[in-house]
Amino acid sequence: MKRILSTTTIATSAILATLVGGSVVAATTVSQSSDEQALAPARTPASRSIEQKVDVLLAKMTTKEKLEQVQLLSDGQINDAEAKNGVGGVFSLTDPAQINHYQHVAVDDSRLHIPILFAYDTIHGYRTIFPVPLGTASSFDPDVAKSDATIGARESATVGLKQIYSPMVDVSHEPRWGRIVEGAGEDPYLGSVMGAARVKGAQGDSYSDRDKVVSSVKHYVAYGQPEGGRDYNTTDMSEARLRNMYLPPFKAAIDAGADTVMCSFNSLNGVPGCANKYTETQILKKQWGFDGFVESDYTAVSETRACPPRTPDEGPCGHGTAADGPQAGANALMAGTDSEMVSTNIRDYGQQLLQQHRITMSRLDDAVRRILRVKYRAGLFAHPYVNQAKATDPASFLTADDRKAARKAAGESMVLLKNSSSTLPLDKSKKTAVIGPLGDSKHDMLGPWWGRGQDSDAVSLYDGIKAVDPSATYTPGCTMSHAEPPEAATADDCSTTTGFADAVAAAQSADQIVLALGETREMSAEAEARSTIDLPGKQQELLDAVKQAVPDKPIAVVLFNGRPLTLSKVDETAPAILEAWFPGVEAGNAVADVVFGDVNPSGKLPVTFPRTLGQVPIYYNHEPTGRPCDATQKYNSRYRDLNSCDPLYEFGYGLSYTTFSVSDFSIDQSRIGPDGKVHATMTVTNTGSRAGTDVAQLYLHDPVASISQPVRRLRGFERVTLDPGQSRTIHFTVDRTDFGFYDNRGKFVVEPGTIELYAGDSSKASLRQTFTVTR
Ligand code: NOJ
Repeated sequence: MKRILSTTTIATSAILATLVGGSVVAATTVSQSSDEQALAPARTPASRSIEQKVDVLLAKMTTKEKLEQVQLLSDGQINDAEAKNGVGGVFSLTDPAQINHYQHVAVDDSRLHIPILFAYDTIHGYRTIFPVPLGTASSFDPDVAKSDATIGARESATVGLKQIYSPMVDVSHEPRWGRIVEGAGEDPYLGSVMGAARVKGAQGDSYSDRDKVVSSVKHYVAYGQPEGGRDYNTTDMSEARLRNMYLPPFKAAIDAGADTVMCSFNSLNGVPGCANKYTETQILKKQWGFDGFVESDYTAVSETRACPPRTPDEGPCGHGTAADGPQAGANALMAGTDSEMVSTNIRDYGQQLLQQHRITMSRLDDAVRRILRVKYRAGLFAHPYVNQAKATDPASFLTADDRKAARKAAGESMVLLKNSSSTLPLDKSKKTAVIGPLGDSKHDMLGPWWGRGQDSDAVSLYDGIKAVDPSATYTPGCTMSHAEPPEAATADDCSTTTGFADAVAAAQSADQIVLALGETREMSAEAEARSTIDLPGKQQELLDAVKQAVPDKPIAVVLFNGRPLTLSKVDETAPAILEAWFPGVEAGNAVADVVFGDVNPSGKLPVTFPRTLGQVPIYYNHEPTGRPCDATQKYNSRYRDLNSCDPLYEFGYGLSYTTFSVSDFSIDQSRIGPDGKVHATMTVTNTGSRAGTDVAQLYLHDPVASISQPVRRLRGFERVTLDPGQSRTIHFTVDRTDFGFYDNRGKFVVEPGTIELYAGDSSKASLRQTFTVTR
């Protein structure tokens, strides 16, 4: 019971948090003041003593010093002169000796002794690499995300970092987009819970603690929906969609305490993320009460300039909302960007812009105040330096406990997609052939954004299987290249069948086969969009060849990949499919745990897997249409060449080695006022013969609303671990924050009418209850 309550509480508060801020207009009799109370900002009020210190320091600063403070440089840009001038932040420098060196220059030699904030992309681990965030999201367990961030923060802080560019909370319906791997998938509720958990893990109760760092939530905002799935590309969407789908995880992370935000590369409705006054100042700072700072993404301020740039030495250009560097700097600062990463427009043109009244001193002061506030909150003035002995002691990193946590996280993150005739778990006493291009890779197991993880730290799949079955063999069948663009387009990715005969022979001489297929780690994350999402190269043919040779032997496909793939043919061929994502440093052990049954898989998909790329975008939380898809009829929202309306695997789906039933769905109210609450209960029963964990899921639909509402919206979930035959009743509460929504004026509305709730263990949940919200 305790566990049920704790997880539900995190989920509820995360979502409550997401709805704070937009002014609330109820189509009911509820007064504005009661709405404001119900949705009050969750952030801790600013400390008076810190505000006083900031004021004192700010009053001493020259304009030049202020302009230096809003500058964020990369590891390649920092030097003694920059540190002495009072640069605000540095990122990607992780050598503790160098961090201490520049910190000493800043603190000892700069006029005002202001410490530098050192930042890094600790995305799913610093040295102890956890599963990629899309994998972690599959656990539906905020404790997994929290433990990843807790260990990542400790290791980052150990080398002298005090800010991490995480969590990435971009909701995405776009599997071509390489960066879908960095977030929690397609659902804003799940993204909110995971984002908040990461912030709590990284920051703890106070990010001034020596093992904590401040989180930067990114990429603000709507970066997850680039047209065509091409990174950095434009985004255009309604206000309702922005508010209901893309903003909630940011709000949840900020209410969890995140004190920094990174504005995004993309334009939203024509306005670049780092020059968007509406999202940066109006929503984030004013409506949500955010008092930390916003840093730009890498050269994102320069990129607002038209091409060719009139001031070519400031990096890339393109958006065309600024003619030149001065205008780019002015637009960004006045929109609410407080710190400029890599490009230097605000710093370099600030004096001139002030004289020309194109920026204001009060806005510059506000930006500096925010940066100093975070530095004080981080305890940087009191403890600017890193303990080098500890930072260089191998015992500080990747401890036995860290590995244990990473292994547990990876086990929980795997999703069993298919398991016909109980192919899995495999038999530990039988001979296993590991086959496939990713079967003995350490490198790929870490996934993209591997921090300072080292390939040699990682346990390959073959290593993990061998630890259980010493007779196991490994045969690649084909190889994958680790080429980066532009070579990637012509890379040799499993492009020949010459190794297939050896693979077939290995399968023939074994009792059971684990086929490791998927993507290399270079194929996802930043700038790694794919125009197809099939298994690259001839991997399907490799599976076909093995299957044909040993049709009756157990074959389990284990997938390593950073995005949903189109797996229709794999699903037709393989008796068992385990989606392992990129599981991190303990990959091989964690896969072996699942494959041999020591861990019963419990992951659920955080993102829809289409049958074919042409279905994209396909996501469970879509709006309805006047002509819903019916593959057997004409004049509806179907594809003429596809005999199905469904994806291959839906959001929230995932199998176990046991079976579960969800039953007895009931609610305690049939009519409530707009401020009322409905308590829902459902019973989960383990109907199989092994202990296992299911994820109970609650979805909501508002069938009649002033603007069309998604056919389903996840509003609660709970992991439930049960012995065979055991049942447990799970409780959820829904209120206005769940059945209300933002309209196209950016107002939160709660409309009277029927609300449908669905209970089950995937987004196809079929148990239904309804209640009425009265005026
Ligand atoms: C660009 C990426 O978009 C962002 O996610 C990252 O934090 C910065 N580079 C810094 O590395």
